[in-house]
Amino acid sequence: MNVLIINGPNLNLLGIREPEIYGRQSFEDFLPDLISMFPQHSIETWQSNHEGEIIDKLHSAIAKIDAIVINPGAYAHTSVAIADAIKSIAIPVVEVHLSNIHARENYRRHSFTAEACKGMISGFGLDSYRLAVLSLEKMS
Ligand code: DQA
Repeated sequence: MNVLIINGPNLNLLGIREPEIYGRQSFEDFLPDLISMFPQHSIETWQSNHEGEIIDKLHSAIAKIDAIVINPGAYAHTSVAIADAIKSIAIPVVEVHLSNIHARENYRRHSFTAEACKGMISGFGLDSYRLAVLSLEKMS
């Protein structure tokens, strides 16, 4: 499978940002481990802090990518536009969150984008990404 991982706003600061919630490892440090867990798949990663860029990236996956893992960051809780983009592409998408969004502030408990996804994995730190790739592999 060609897997695309999309990370949304502020996830470029993983390892530095609120480490008590999101951990002390950067995504760049974690990525080689993730890639080595799935030698049978090609895994591409991409990050943006901008809603429109995330929508463009989802569109650009059409006919090129087999499966998408997305951590929309805070856009999960606000972006009908990203949810619509996920619905517009015929590619299975799994949403991930490092933190358990149901165990945090009320405003994080709802995800517009997860409604458009095959499923959501939340609360397992960076391991959420491994679990998402595994679930997409089983779906394929
Ligand atoms: C997050 C959860 C969101 O509520 C938050 O805005 C983030 C990170 C997570 O991975 O736990 O930026 O998506």
